[in-house]
Amino acid sequence: MIKREEIIGDCRLLLGDCLEILPTLGKVDAVIADPPYYNINGDFDFIWKDFNDYLADVERWACLLNSAMKETATLYWFGDDKNIAYSQIIFDRYMGLLNSLVWFKIDKRGGVYGSAGGGAIRSFPICTERLLVYAKDKYNLTSCIYEIRNYIRDEIYKSKGKIVFKEINSALGTATSGGGVASACLSLDKAEPAMFTREMYERLQEWCSPHLRREYEELRREYEELRREFNNRHKLTEVLEFKSDTKNASLHPTVKPVQLISALVETSTRRCQTILDPFMGSGTTGVACAKMGRKFIGIELEPKYFDIACKRIEEAYRQPDLFIEKPKQMEQQSFEIT
Ligand SMILES: C[S@@+](CC[C@H](N)C(=O)[O-])C[C@H]1O[C@@H](n2cnc3c(N)ncnc32)[C@H](O)[C@@H]1O
Repeated sequence: MIKREEIIGDCRLLLGDCLEILPTLGKVDAVIADPPYYNINGDFDFIWKDFNDYLADVERWACLLNSAMKETATLYWFGDDKNIAYSQIIFDRYMGLLNSLVWFKIDKRGGVYGSAGGGAIRSFPICTERLLVYAKDKYNLTSCIYEIRNYIRDEIYKSKGKIVFKEINSALGTATSGGGVASACLSLDKAEPAMFTREMYERLQEWCSPHLRREYEELRREYEELRREFNNRHKLTEVLEFKSDTKNASLHPTVKPVQLISALVETSTRRCQTILDPFMGSGTTGVACAKMGRKFIGIELEPKYFDIACKRIEEAYRQPDLFIEKPKQMEQQSFEIT
């Protein structure tokens, strides 16, 4: 079970096997998991009888992680070029695949011929790792947002006896056509309806008076919180271009770059949300969370890596640096879907 527990700032570090610990945890907003890849690198990678034995563990991990995720949670699952295909088949049984990403190690541009890390003789040099991105449920997660859209539609209907986008747009002072803002926010055809700005909502309230009385702030917060967070502020594509972390390579055989993990944290979570790393290693995800104002739960099996993670996360809290994201006013600037 939990052999040791350390609380450092908003980070909870647990020493033990994630297979045993995961069922005891509450639900989290995101998972960043960098599991053993099977017979590639590190003593923890060479413990399975064969690949099928390893895949049986992948299935157990997928099942437990699925249970640990909130409905709006995102999961990132690392792998190498060979194992990722098998992991995807397993994870597809539990969650909805959003992306299959490639981490292109820009410092390995040009490749390293004859390198380890899965490269075979007389084959192309390896300069990437892979990352699957999953939503707990990629289709249902907007169903609650439909309730917000339906509330606004119902109130307009009560007031006007009909829903005509052209009239709504004209009341909003936007386009006088039948599309525009009204369609983006109220159409029944939209997979993900947008949310009105405060100004527009208040105009709509005036137009529909005495109906449409729910407060804008309450609706907007609900709208934000009910959606899976995805704010691509780093303008990432499915090819993630980041250098490997050579500075911390002596701490852990498969250490990930803080910059890469921080970008994922910022894209898929809001401040104060909780991120779980079931294979914490040297604590890179914890470092990113400490710097980005997120809560963190990390699990690590090996005491030597657990100690390193504790030190790195303590250090991250001590050293404010450019990574720290300034708290943002919760304010919606436009009705566009972000
Ligand atoms: C690929 S490494 C993660 C490295 C980490 N991303 C970093 O930047 O340092 C995988 C880690 O998972 C740990 N591990 C392996 N099996 C585990 C298990 N069942 N429960 C918890 N940790 C485990 C290993 O000891 C290893 O440190």
